[in-house]
Amino acid sequence: MHKRTVSGFSKKNKSEKIDWLAEHYFSDNGQLKEEWQSFEHSDSDLQKVFDAFSENTVANYYMPYGVAPNFMIDGKVYAVPMVIEESSVVAAAASAAKFWLSRGGFQTEVRSTVKLGQLHFTWSGPSEKLQAIFSEIEAELCQDAKPITANMEQRGGGIIGMELIDFTAEEAGYYQLRVRFETCDSMGANFINSVLESFGDSLRRLGDTHQALRDYPLEIVMAILSNYTPECIVRAQVSCPVDELEGACQDMDGAAFAEKFRKAVRIAEIDPYRATTHNKGIFNGVDAVVLATGNDFRAIEACGHTHAAADGQYRSLSHCTVEDGVFTFWLDLPLAVGTVGGLTKLHPLARRSLELLDQPSAAELMSIIAATGLAQNFAAVRSLVTTGIQKGHMKMHLMNILNFLGATDAEIKVTQDHFTDQIVSFNAVRAYLQTIRSGSIKTI
Ligand code: MEV
Repeated sequence: MHKRTVSGFSKKNKSEKIDWLAEHYFSDNGQLKEEWQSFEHSDSDLQKVFDAFSENTVANYYMPYGVAPNFMIDGKVYAVPMVIEESSVVAAAASAAKFWLSRGGFQTEVRSTVKLGQLHFTWSGPSEKLQAIFSEIEAELCQDAKPITANMEQRGGGIIGMELIDFTAEEAGYYQLRVRFETCDSMGANFINSVLESFGDSLRRLGDTHQALRDYPLEIVMAILSNYTPECIVRAQVSCPVDELEGACQDMDGAAFAEKFRKAVRIAEIDPYRATTHNKGIFNGVDAVVLATGNDFRAIEACGHTHAAADGQYRSLSHCTVEDGVFTFWLDLPLAVGTVGGLTKLHPLARRSLELLDQPSAAELMSIIAATGLAQNFAAVRSLVTTGIQKGHMKMHLMNILNFLGATDAEIKVTQDHFTDQIVSFNAVRAYLQTIRSGSIKTI
């Protein structure tokens, strides 16, 4: 066996896992354990909760938890929690939130919170036979799943409907049950997957016993939710007369700024290369709130990108018009999130995030996330069409460089003062610090 491979790693306790990694992958193996253990939570019960989120956990990985205040969304003011490691994202969101606070804030509309799941199966009999007994199958599957759905039904959710889709032209014998679910304030992944697996068991049984099905082999290929939830969509929008955009940029009047901004958004509608970066800016805001509230950012990303390519070309998720002197900028985003279940109550910071947001329903959280994505996009495009992003970004990144170079508080202060009107780069900051350290510049 290769000396860096291992069997039974998961059976080792945390300390043994670190020892094994230290021995096989690190040269400073004496220090590794101390260093990783320094990231452990002092409350061992809480540490157990963190450890249980995943497998083979050997340390905690810290991410900054920030807040962007002054978000007026549908007339209510929020301080939005954001977990993100990238400099200037929270500052940009906060600046856009403040900008729109005095211009009516963000308006949102949630179309629905309907989620989707799929049961993929093959059956080699004639399609008409399957179609003919489909309503019978549907009733049987729903009846069998009652023990799983009863609770959700009491909360106002459950199975809303299903359709049988015939894909046999693309793959011999392949059909799909596409099922619509209402999962109320939960994201609903476990509920949906449990129902779908129950459907799979029931359909397999029907395949063996139902006289219309049993003469042909039926195979359940898989049962799983779809992360593409096009009905579970929210629109966030800002709008104002172009005159009120005065102040968005020092060198342009409101009308000129509005037109240049519109053009920048239009470019992202036309060109997938720009659209990818444009949408990445939106997800800077979206993912940060999704993470802060204990939701699944990979699911949100996957869905958003599918939506962005819904007409066959990857395009901007946001849109802008300037018509009759009115600037309107909006974002349509499918967002399957929950405010109950999952990590939302287990992770102490996720719990606090929801408290900070006044215990939102899932639909309200969709509005908050979409508004943050739109704010982020507004801030990024505003910078791009005016000053460029590097000025603000590198100002925020200066602190990372100073920390990396081990600057003292006094050195930080002097260096920050120096770089208020200088271009920040790693080399420039290092050179300036060297000058300070050589004694040529006084720090007090
Ligand atoms: C950087 O994280 C995000 C931006 O590139 C987004 C954009 O270009 O619109 C600034």
